[in-house]
Amino acid sequence: MFEPPIQPVPIHRNNPPTTMKRILLTVNGAACAGAILVFFTACAGPRGQTFEQLAMTPQMGWNSWNKFQGRVSEQLIRETADAMATNGMKKAGYQYVNIDDVWQATARDAQGNILPDPARFPSGIKALADYVHSKGLKLGIYSDAGTRTCAGRPGSLGHEAQDAQAYASWGVDYLKYDWCNTQGLQAPAAYKKMSDALRATGRPILFSLCEWGNSKPWTWGKGVGQSWRTTGDIRASFNSVLSILDKQVNLRQYAGPGHWNDPDMLEVGNGMSVPEDRAHFTMWCILDSPLISGNDLRNMNPETLKILTDKDVIALNQDPLGIQALKYSAKDGMEVWFKPLRKNAWAMCVLNRNRDPQKFAFDWKSEKVTDDVANRETKFDAVTYRIRDLWQKQDLGTTKAPLSADVQGHDVLLLRLDKE
Ligand code: GLA
Repeated sequence: MFEPPIQPVPIHRNNPPTTMKRILLTVNGAACAGAILVFFTACAGPRGQTFEQLAMTPQMGWNSWNKFQGRVSEQLIRETADAMATNGMKKAGYQYVNIDDVWQATARDAQGNILPDPARFPSGIKALADYVHSKGLKLGIYSDAGTRTCAGRPGSLGHEAQDAQAYASWGVDYLKYDWCNTQGLQAPAAYKKMSDALRATGRPILFSLCEWGNSKPWTWGKGVGQSWRTTGDIRASFNSVLSILDKQVNLRQYAGPGHWNDPDMLEVGNGMSVPEDRAHFTMWCILDSPLISGNDLRNMNPETLKILTDKDVIALNQDPLGIQALKYSAKDGMEVWFKPLRKNAWAMCVLNRNRDPQKFAFDWKSEKVTDDVANRETKFDAVTYRIRDLWQKQDLGTTKAPLSADVQGHDVLLLRLDKE
């Protein structure tokens, strides 16, 4: 089993670590801003991807924070890329391998260049990006709009263009941009500044806003980045999952292709029960959340991998219409959600928030599901749908007959309804 070579570091939200190390490293900061030749060789994204084509469906990948916090290293990232490329996740659509906080050295160099931590990333980020790209995957990195990151490493304030150029010159594909230590800053302007800096590099780097929903980024984030966090940090507990879920209900009109609400990274495989992991993954899928796994991909049990790679469930998240699910009803801890899909299909999810199993009955003909945002109706009185239980992989007849089912505690019944 892999042992992280680096010991955990304590996380200080506002107190930078005292150890100050400096290494010399030459960053070709201008590499991507230069000649057209350079643009096409070093800066064009894979298969010529442009900014406009980023995250047309919610981005899928992995991020180090939920499981490893500050215990990141190039070895962890390489081994995670190896795992993603071979364990079925890449095939299921996962693409980005994202390093979160604490990849940076504790100080910039004399020219103000951001440097990787020399002990954790001795080969540098460019070599790591090359490795991740060689696996057919993409590399993501992390910074902060303020003076320091949440874990006390150098933030990008005053260095936005310089940092963006460094990321582009290294071949980075994704930037998560945090909001610690930003006293006196206005979020829309601060995020726009880094967004413009990324664009100026010419490399299509996906921009993931992490401002925790404080200044309603759903009202200004479209066009600035491809997703924005809507809440504070998730934890690996069902209560945390449910409380974040509740905050997504009124945000659905703000999401769509290229601009997603982000209820935070996945905690699947980080300690919840299998039904809880399944319910969490299901809800994030139908919310059109970015699917950023947050567990140890090198060591996961088959149940975790099965949940993370279920192609029928992922297909709901990656549906090209990009319509976030609506909450249709809630009674006694039982919620019914609907998500319009292409070809006039729907996903329907019954979430049991209770610890105990519950009976669920649904008489289609007397239910009227209307989506005012997407202007869609199920028309159960006039249209018959075939019903497929996506987790159980079973056909459950049609909507001609009323549905009755048992839903386990902290679990979901997830159905796909296709027009007959
Ligand atoms: C904040 C973010 C987290 C993570 C940490 C890193 O709390 O919301 O997702 O990036 O910072 O320090």
